[in-house]
Amino acid sequence: MDFENPPVDPVEQFIRWFDEAKDRTTVPNPNAMTLATVDPDGRPSARIVLLKQLDHDGAVFFSNYQSDKARALQAHPIATLLFHWDELHRQVRLRGRVSRISDAESDAYFASRPIGSRIGAWASDQSQPVGSRAVLDRRYDEIAARYGDGPVPRPRHWGGYRMTIDSIEFWQGRDNRLHDRVGYTLQSDGHWSAQRLFP
Ligand SMILES: Cc1cc2nc3c(=O)[nH]c(=O)nc-3n(C[C@H](O)[C@H](O)[C@H](O)COP(=O)(O)O)c2cc1C
Repeated sequence: MDFENPPVDPVEQFIRWFDEAKDRTTVPNPNAMTLATVDPDGRPSARIVLLKQLDHDGAVFFSNYQSDKARALQAHPIATLLFHWDELHRQVRLRGRVSRISDAESDAYFASRPIGSRIGAWASDQSQPVGSRAVLDRRYDEIAARYGDGPVPRPRHWGGYRMTIDSIEFWQGRDNRLHDRVGYTLQSDGHWSAQRLFP
């Protein structure tokens, strides 16, 4: 990336870096990202989720719509997504507004998941207390028996979110901690403004 003359389109630039991370077979889970949200009571909260799609419409991830993160996103539909590809000495921070994707999009992705993950989505009341491992395993077995070899429909409480991106920051590690940083902000006319930042 040319930090002196930053590219006009940071989304394209993100996709280039993401492809480079995926090409490195030694980078584990290149699509793992920290999702930071604001809880209903205003406290920050963060956890890892997997990026499943990224284009000019935004960044898509999937989760449980009754989880703690879902409650946070309902109260404050804003988030930060943070990537760290250590081997490439790169960090990218994306910010924006989050909303649920359509049922049709969630259905399509859910249908593409392995059968065990589909059953697991039914079995887990994500973020709720559970008495023991055995409770979870029993629920899994019951649901697996209920659907047998038939199709497993998507639970209404499970689906995707899309974050429309309004700011992106690229960080490239350099010697002596004199790293390269550039931050982009989406303007009201749809163009991105870029600004180099002290590391
Ligand atoms: C590598 C990795 C990938 C994960 N991917 C997802 C994911 O795509 N969606 C998800 O809901 N949770 C995922 N999790 C679990 C979350 O980090 C988190 O524990 C869970 O979503 C509950 O978060 P919450 O209680 O803040 O809602 C992943 C965890 C790890 C370590």
